[in-house]
Amino acid sequence: MTAATANANRAFPLHPFSTNPLKTRDDVVQAVASLLDPLAAGDSPLHSMVKVSSTGTRFDETAAQVEGYARPLWGLAPLLAGDSKYAGTERFVQGLVAGTDPESPEFWGYMEDQDQRMVEACPIGYTLAIAHKDFWDPLTDKQKKNVESWLGSMNDKDMPNTNWLWFRVFANLGLAKNGAAWSKSRLEADIKQLNTFYRGDGWSNDGPEGYRQMDYYSGSFAIQYLQLLYAKLAAETDPTQGEEYKKRARLYAQDFVHYFDPEGRAITFGRSLTYRWAMVAFWGSVAFAEVDLPSPLSWGAVRGIWLRNLRWWTTQKDIFQPNGMLSIGYSYPNTYLAENYNSPGSPYWCMLAFAPLALPSSHAFWSSPEENHPFAGQRIIRPLPHPRHIVVQSGGHSFLLNSGQSCHYPLKATQAKYGKFAYSSAFAYSVPTGSYTLEQYVPESSLALSDDGGEIWKMRRALHGDSEIEVHDGTPVLVSSMRPWSDVDVLTYLVPPAEETPNWHLRVHRVRTGREVKTAEGAFAVYGCREADGRNLTELNASISEGGSADATSAFAASRSGAVGIAELSLEQRPGSILLADANSNLVEARSVLPTLHAELQAGETKWFATAVYALPASVEGWKDKWSAGWEKKPVIPKWLQDKISGRWD
Ligand SMILES: *[C@@H]1O[C@H](CO)[C@@H](O)[C@H](O)[C@H]1NC(C)=O
Ligand SMILES: *[C@@H]1O[C@H](CO)[C@@H](O)[C@H](O)[C@H]1NC(C)=O
Repeated sequence: MTAATANANRAFPLHPFSTNPLKTRDDVVQAVASLLDPLAAGDSPLHSMVKVSSTGTRFDETAAQVEGYARPLWGLAPLLAGDSKYAGTERFVQGLVAGTDPESPEFWGYMEDQDQRMVEACPIGYTLAIAHKDFWDPLTDKQKKNVESWLGSMNDKDMPNTNWLWFRVFANLGLAKNGAAWSKSRLEADIKQLNTFYRGDGWSNDGPEGYRQMDYYSGSFAIQYLQLLYAKLAAETDPTQGEEYKKRARLYAQDFVHYFDPEGRAITFGRSLTYRWAMVAFWGSVAFAEVDLPSPLSWGAVRGIWLRNLRWWTTQKDIFQPNGMLSIGYSYPNTYLAENYNSPGSPYWCMLAFAPLALPSSHAFWSSPEENHPFAGQRIIRPLPHPRHIVVQSGGHSFLLNSGQSCHYPLKATQAKYGKFAYSSAFAYSVPTGSYTLEQYVPESSLALSDDGGEIWKMRRALHGDSEIEVHDGTPVLVSSMRPWSDVDVLTYLVPPAEETPNWHLRVHRVRTGREVKTAEGAFAVYGCREADGRNLTELNASISEGGSADATSAFAASRSGAVGIAELSLEQRPGSILLADANSNLVEARSVLPTLHAELQAGETKWFATAVYALPASVEGWKDKWSAGWEKKPVIPKWLQDKISGRWD
């Protein structure tokens, strides 16, 4: 590395979180403190709000800054409950007093219908339930009444029919635990409604019948997580429900384990990924509720999944602002991926992960030796019918095939968050940065279509009809179709890797069009620069496994991320290119490129694309010696699918 590159690529002075070894309970206590400390600089005078930065949200600024105050409690409360100390605790206690006092200049305001404040009632209710020694017992009667009235103001308000209902359950639970006035009938009605989201095998939809949305909210961000906290906190008052939630967690865990790779990374999928290591919070709630999971999910295995993810985040050194507070983004500050409800304080939902701090270090979760990922090195191909995913671990790559989910309201970049064919832990997904040209749309793991010569592109948002998981020759295959326009339909088969070609998956599409269209289909995206000098990747230099190449039917790129490629197996012409994806489109790599195939169809034409996608993450030992043979050995289209392509069976 030249001196200039070393300087250009240097990180800010390292945040203490980034140098934390994250092995023991004490390490985790330190990590939480290092996340809480910088927030003091954004505190309001009476500590009831924290200004983390200045971007806006669809709701009011007070609610945004209440998030900056309340979300960190997800980490502080279990830390205190587990008898550890945090020097800044008092400022959070004072903040609760001021924020709930209608006579205080820092009163948060009572809740209105559909109020964002409702979300923050959840960490506050939880804190009252487990850290009342600091947050309730020392309060005066008047202050207690204020907290009771503020949380209680939620009980007669309208709420979205989603995971939000849990937030009111926790508001009531926190009050009930301290002998304050609460609504038993409300709590019971909310739980009853939440239970209607249950679909079976541990999986809950994030909302009622009529659409399928089973992202991290089904598990770590809300539903499973809060079910387990409830199971623990209501163990005496509602044991039957608690046991049911533990049963669901045991089922869910056996699927969800495959969303984490042996290196600790989580598969990027769905909305709100700026919550970062909240993705691993489910495992923390398993510990908090002391749920024994079926083998091989021992305590050492659970802790391993949890800690490896936290440790992976310590390697993502650009997640912080220079002042030490978290930024909006995934691996670096990025508002393209942010939802309109992501305030600067909202990333602190990540503190959810720290629930195990409520357990003493003598608990088996902390004292069992940390184990490797229970499926490390195994070949896994598992259909998950509820989320319509096929989870795959093959050739050192953990990813999922996806057809059949969509967000039920107009979320930003919704096509990228729910509509792609594949989502990987090693190669994060990419979002569009604008709406002019392919470089801004970024058809990563997608088939994009344009009917205006390439200005505006459509990618899959919702399906036409529902998807199916079919089994062919013993292999699960996801089948779905989309209609980007009323006269264009695309039938898609997603086929997981065959044993002989472990780094390839297939996406076979039948495109029928009534209009002239351009199409572009991308592989996974990789870091777009050279390791030596940080300049753009150029022609593939095989001796150093770096650069890109493309020909009449394929495109390939390798860089420090690993090797990815895309190849057409059936048509004679479907030219490849290395798309220079727009800056900040990829969640992990701010500069990325995307191997892409291109084809044009005339009005009235039907064409089959037999797309094969290659991916070998750099985390595979010796990947630089392996990609060439792997990329040369193209996969075989299975006979049943070949028959469809050649029209022998339709
Ligand atoms: C490949 O990279 C190496 C190391 O930088 C360099 O010595 C070699 O000349 C390059 N080969 C080509 C064909 O550019
Ligand atoms: C480097 O790539 C970017 C797109 O990612 C492009 O805009 C720029 O022109 C490239 N620079 C060079 C020197 O090729």
